[in-house]
Amino acid sequence: MSLLAGKTSLVTGAGGEIGAALATGLAGNGSKVALCDIDVAAAEKVAQDIEASGGRAIACPLDVTRENDWRDAMKRVGAALGDLDVLVNCAGLFSGEAHSIGDMPLDEWRRLHSVNLDGAFLGVKAGVNTMGARGGSIINIGSVVSFFGARSGAAYGTSKGAVRGLTIQAAASCIASGLDIRVNAIHPGYILTRSALGSSVARLGSAAKAKEAFAGRSPMNRCITPEALVGPTVFLASDASRHMNGAELLVDDGLSTQMPGTSFG
Ligand SMILES: NC(=O)c1ccc[n+]([C@@H]2O[C@H](COP(=O)([O-])OP(=O)(O)OC[C@H]3O[C@@H](n4cnc5c(N)ncnc54)[C@H](O)[C@@H]3O)[C@@H](O)[C@H]2O)c1
Repeated sequence: MSLLAGKTSLVTGAGGEIGAALATGLAGNGSKVALCDIDVAAAEKVAQDIEASGGRAIACPLDVTRENDWRDAMKRVGAALGDLDVLVNCAGLFSGEAHSIGDMPLDEWRRLHSVNLDGAFLGVKAGVNTMGARGGSIINIGSVVSFFGARSGAAYGTSKGAVRGLTIQAAASCIASGLDIRVNAIHPGYILTRSALGSSVARLGSAAKAKEAFAGRSPMNRCITPEALVGPTVFLASDASRHMNGAELLVDDGLSTQMPGTSFG
């Protein structure tokens, strides 16, 4: 039997590469799926592919930084697919140009925090208020970068570090409110997507060099694809992880176990 049969899931950033893979994976495991994105045409295309494969999916416009959009999306998803069980906060922005902390424009700082942190917060808030006493599972997509110092992307790193904090605080708050809503996080390593590669291509001069650099960020020297995040997401969405709350899963090929420099024992 499918792990998520009868459940309804909402994925933000579902028009993007990781969001599309996660929505498709949730649908493949039996969930009805709402694909939300500021780029609704991209989400619509993925929803159509899911429906063509026999799943149930709708696309829904959503700017995660706008609280009213969240209210509208929740109403629309509830009417079309039924009570919400799973919310995946995946919408996100990467750093544009490289900036040292001394050069970081405040606008760039705010742009990244607005989507990556405020957007996830508004999602958690809307998810908790929609799921309420029925309970559910909320999954925040962070980043392995929040475990390290990013040399030229402090705004992205801190926004994802704050997603770690949001996850723990939201889990504790739900417990304190007597709600059976679990809030966990997945921290991907370097995942081969066009958006993530974008700035590296500009900095390194070619897509081939950028891909090589991405593979080099895996201790196994290989690229990690968006589909690698499906299993952990389905697990956290399902009752198989019933007793996990405020937890974090790293999907980084073990990058976070590595110390820099040559090994001497
Ligand atoms: N690719 C990686 O290496 C990597 C690593 C760690 C974490 N992540 C995280 O995974 C998530 C997806 O990354 P991706 O590589 O698939 O990027 P992507 O650019 O392909 O997807 C991001 C999606 O978010 C949407 N979006 C942006 N702003 C939005 C807003 N205000 N409201 C709603 N939707 C909005 C975009 O339209 C896009 O469809 C991001 O949160 C990213 O930070 C990615």
